[in-house]
Amino acid sequence: MMRRSDTQYDRSEHGLRKCPAREARPQGTAASSRAGRVVPGPVAPTMPRRAARLAGLGTTIFTEMSALAQRTGAINLGQGFPDTDGPPEAIEAAVAALRSGENQYAPLPGVPALREAVREHQRRHYGLEPEDVLITFGATEAIAAALLGLCDPGDEVVVLEPYYDSYAACIAFAGAQRRPVTLRPPGFALEPEALRGALGPRARVLLLNTPHNPTGRVLDRTELELIASACRERDLVCVTDEVYEHLVYEGRHVPIATLPGMAERTLTISSIGKSFSFTGWKIGWCSGPAELVAAARTVKQFLTFAGGTPLQHASAAALRLAPSHLEVLREDLRAKRDQLCAGLVAAGLAPLIPAATYFVNADVGTDAVRFCAELPERCGVVAIPTSVFYDDKQAASTLVRFAFCKREEVIAQAAARLASLGS
Ligand SMILES: Cc1ncc(COP(=O)(O)O)c(C=O)c1O
Repeated sequence: MMRRSDTQYDRSEHGLRKCPAREARPQGTAASSRAGRVVPGPVAPTMPRRAARLAGLGTTIFTEMSALAQRTGAINLGQGFPDTDGPPEAIEAAVAALRSGENQYAPLPGVPALREAVREHQRRHYGLEPEDVLITFGATEAIAAALLGLCDPGDEVVVLEPYYDSYAACIAFAGAQRRPVTLRPPGFALEPEALRGALGPRARVLLLNTPHNPTGRVLDRTELELIASACRERDLVCVTDEVYEHLVYEGRHVPIATLPGMAERTLTISSIGKSFSFTGWKIGWCSGPAELVAAARTVKQFLTFAGGTPLQHASAAALRLAPSHLEVLREDLRAKRDQLCAGLVAAGLAPLIPAATYFVNADVGTDAVRFCAELPERCGVVAIPTSVFYDDKQAASTLVRFAFCKREEVIAQAAARLASLGS
């Protein structure tokens, strides 16, 4: 049970100051006092209870929309998680680890077998030789630890928008400012002027995501070179989120760490969730120069320390599976992408065919926020308005993001429901 102390510390403009414990303040009113003593009424808060850095960070859209899907029985094409399990060999490895006593804290940097498997993966797929590897609680923790470990208050983080929602939160937690570079539909190409415009004097980190959620783009060589030269010229650290590295249907994923002069300034993040359909395992990692990994490790030490030991062992087993597992998953998802895109076309919605990831954006020709709010009632499907991933809400106001990482029959049913929209 949590112990209450009589004294707590509150934040004031001038730092920490002592104040009586909030829980210890007398509650109730004179009227409610049985003993007839005058008991002070509730004390009105003299300052906001929530930290200012939480401003604008409510419940995520994914939580809201998944709850809406559950409440209404709608098909959830909002959140990107598969509705089938990953390779049974990896599940058996998890069971074996649980049964063989791998149930205590992992070492802070991660279990050696998984760290080695990540090194091997980076070498085999990309020819990279990272100096260090840190295992994290999903890519999400790696992103948080990297931003907290690499940014000081007032620093600027240049980030492609639309962006994955945890980026804005973690930039705010670090006391940094985000400087978005807007990718505009239908092509979502990186414009050199947009990148130049976002590079202010306080820029410290460039937070990249390729293959990119929610656009489904795989940044091409020219775009990556543009980013790399900005990082080199401005001496920026590049933090790159590559969780969709193996879900590429057109083109080729090139890790920015492989570009000249980038390995020494890039922290590369990925995870087991998307590549092996185990999003609930939340095993991720970052790799790169020892100094950058150490910054993330220092933060992680005090966020969660180290856990998920059996799943770390199982993730090592997954990474060591034959590459054909990745090919099978990729082909399966490509077919699902095509199936959903055909369904969207049939429903009169205009899909922008994605080259990668779990997601397709479609132009619904009307205000997408309203469209998505009404969609469960209208036809029993949940999807996400793409504008929630932008600071510039007008940049994609008629786009809706649909996830296609679902079973064929679920996509078929969703497509049939969407087709009823026109009738
Ligand atoms: C771009 C991006 N980064 C990170 C994550 C989270 O990864 P993990 O589940 O490994 O924390 C997601 C999940 O949807 C994502 O889309």
